[in-house]
Amino acid sequence: MTEELILQRLAAAFGLVERSTWRRELVSALEQLGERRSVDRAHLEIELQADADLLRELAGHLTIDESHFLRHPQQFELLLTHLGSRLDRAPPGERLRVWSAGCAKGEEPYSVALLARERFDRHRAARIEIVANDINRDALDRARRAAYTPWSFRGVPEPLVRRYFTMTEAGHLALAPAVAATVGFEHASIQERLVRTPAAAVDAILFRNVAIYLEPAAIRAIYTGLHAALRPSGLLLIAPADPLPPAELFERSAEDVAGAFVRRRARTSGANGKVFAQLRFQAASQRAAVRVDADRAPASMPLAAGHGEGAGSNRSAAGPEHREPVASHSPSPEHDRGDRRRTALELDLASQFIATRPTAPHGYLMRGRLLLAQQRPAEAVDDFRRALFVGGDNRVARFWYAAALQRSGNMDRARSQAAQLAVQLAALPEDAVLEDGQTVAAGLLRAVELMRTSLG
Ligand SMILES: C[S@@+](CC[C@H](N)C(=O)[O-])C[C@H]1O[C@@H](n2cnc3c(N)ncnc32)[C@H](O)[C@@H]1O
Repeated sequence: MTEELILQRLAAAFGLVERSTWRRELVSALEQLGERRSVDRAHLEIELQADADLLRELAGHLTIDESHFLRHPQQFELLLTHLGSRLDRAPPGERLRVWSAGCAKGEEPYSVALLARERFDRHRAARIEIVANDINRDALDRARRAAYTPWSFRGVPEPLVRRYFTMTEAGHLALAPAVAATVGFEHASIQERLVRTPAAAVDAILFRNVAIYLEPAAIRAIYTGLHAALRPSGLLLIAPADPLPPAELFERSAEDVAGAFVRRRARTSGANGKVFAQLRFQAASQRAAVRVDADRAPASMPLAAGHGEGAGSNRSAAGPEHREPVASHSPSPEHDRGDRRRTALELDLASQFIATRPTAPHGYLMRGRLLLAQQRPAEAVDDFRRALFVGGDNRVARFWYAAALQRSGNMDRARSQAAQLAVQLAALPEDAVLEDGQTVAAGLLRAVELMRTSLG
């Protein structure tokens, strides 16, 4: 696996935007990981393909875990007021939940914990559950140790530090264990946690200084997930410089605090919204499902890979003009001309799906096909490449990858992918069912041969 591919996989899994220093850092991160696990680079690369934990760990090496206590102090004031009024209104036994998403070394969730101690009596403070996660394992280890250098306290009032921290022999300030114990840490990505978070279960989320490192599609999907995870009128705190959440999901908090938002009651909110989104996505993916009919299929797949309006113009790439454009499958998005709004919604849902299941090839396949339908072959190439990457040797993904390369004018690469795929398919039994559960090897092989003919 080249470094390029590893970086692509990190982007696909976590939505991380590549920074200029990454290639250099990646080389040293791979060395460190290899040493720690006592394996050479080749072994490590194999493990990286199969081990989600390891990929997360590698991602953690490349992210910036800078944080400090009481960062953006006005937001904490607002958060405590919000929690106080929720505690007043909630039934006596009910617990509130605060989530620090992308918590780095823990200063952020611990700030909530110690301020809750300051503001509320022990009994009320104990009703506030604080959870925190990050993809950076080293940062999380340090968070669990809860001992910090003075640099983490810049701007924090001295009396507060004295009340909750003691100086260790190593010159670190260690948080009182009783306070540290109130925060639960997890080594997971925000996307992974979102999948497991029940709808409307969280009272406040701090998603600060994380989105600046993420791709727009990942940010959008995370905001949608955070909206679903928050209770009605739940509080979202982002850093003042972070990309704004979508206005249909969050509105600015009435208090004049930069980066503070309140969850809106949007059309697709809560449990129903999540289920609705999933169902819409499934329905869309079924419409776009790749199916090859043994008798009529040869022309269908390359044409299906073409965009709606251009299906005719694309026929030269698909085979003889007179062939039926798409054989025996339900209407595909490419055929739903004029329904751009629906395609846009489906694209959005595919992006959400990808954000919540970044290691499943299905979402990339779906989005790639929708992008092709929107005449965006270069972006589709990226998605199919990611589908291939996360899906291992996914032959359906390779087919679409080759088709998108052809559509974007990369004929040499399209030829090479199609040739590779033809060899793989020829080695399979004719009736072998491929990764999408529907396409049969012989049908896909015929489609590939046609593509190769059109590629010359
Ligand atoms: C600059 S720190 C922000 C820490 C804290 N939220 C704050 O504002 O002080 C960014 C953290 O986000 C984490 N991060 C980036 N992408 C993530 C993802 N997809 N899931 C979980 N954590 C992520 C990084 O590992 C890093 O520790």
